[in-house]
Formats: sequence, structure tokens, C-alpha cells
Amino acid sequence: MENILSKYESVTPQDVTVWFKAGKTSDFPADGGNCIKYKDKQIAVFNFERRNEWYACQNLCPHKMEMILSRGMIGSTDDIPKIACPMHKKTFSLKDGSNLNGDDLKIATYPVKIVEDEVLIGFID
Ligand code: FES
Repeated sequence: MENILSKYESVTPQDVTVWFKAGKTSDFPADGGNCIKYKDKQIAVFNFERRNEWYACQNLCPHKMEMILSRGMIGSTDDIPKIACPMHKKTFSLKDGSNLNGDDLKIATYPVKIVEDEVLIGFID
């Protein structure tokens, strides 16, 4: 069986080969998230208005393989922006995808840039 997690690998800004138009800024609620699709990936995109920042990560929570992170709660711990999975509250850094509860689980993160009112997510094509 294909490992669904292997589809998701973090992309750094230097590695981006394609900037995908994910939607308009108004498609993403303030201090909340929305899910978009890029090829066979579901990507959670967050408009972290309180920090005036945007983040993107895999929508798949690696704990129980639920496509759910876009519906999680965003916040900050020690100035690290984070997403808490709504299922069992595991939290992940939105900067590097690391698990902030100290276990091995990690998520992939993707660069986001805003050009005029378009939200662009960076991928490796
Ligand atoms: S499914 Fe996300 S924390 Fe359990």
C-alpha cells in the first residue's frame, strides 16, 4: 500500500519551482484555515492575521491519518506559530512542521506569498 505520508515533503523557499495560485486572500478566514488541492495533495492554508503572516502545511494529520489540519486552531507558543489538530490536539510548528508535543510526528510545510490579493503556495513541480 502506498504510504500516503510520503506524498508530503516540506518545501523551502529556495526549492520552489512553481507558485500555485491557491485563491484570493478573501477565500481564507482571518485567523483561520482553508483546504486547497494541489495535484494529489490536500494543503491547509492559514491566514494568521494576528501575526500578519500566512502559512501552508499538509492537511493530513500524521497521528491518525485524518485530513483535518485546516480545521484546527492556530496559535503561538514561545513565538512559534502552530496548528493544533482538532482531533487529539497534537500541535505542530507552522514554520518547520515539527511536533511541539515532543513526539516523532512531523508535518510538511510550504512557503506562501501574497501577490496583490492572490495567495500563492510554493511547490516543487
Ligand atoms: S488525528 Fe490529529 S491529533 Fe489525532
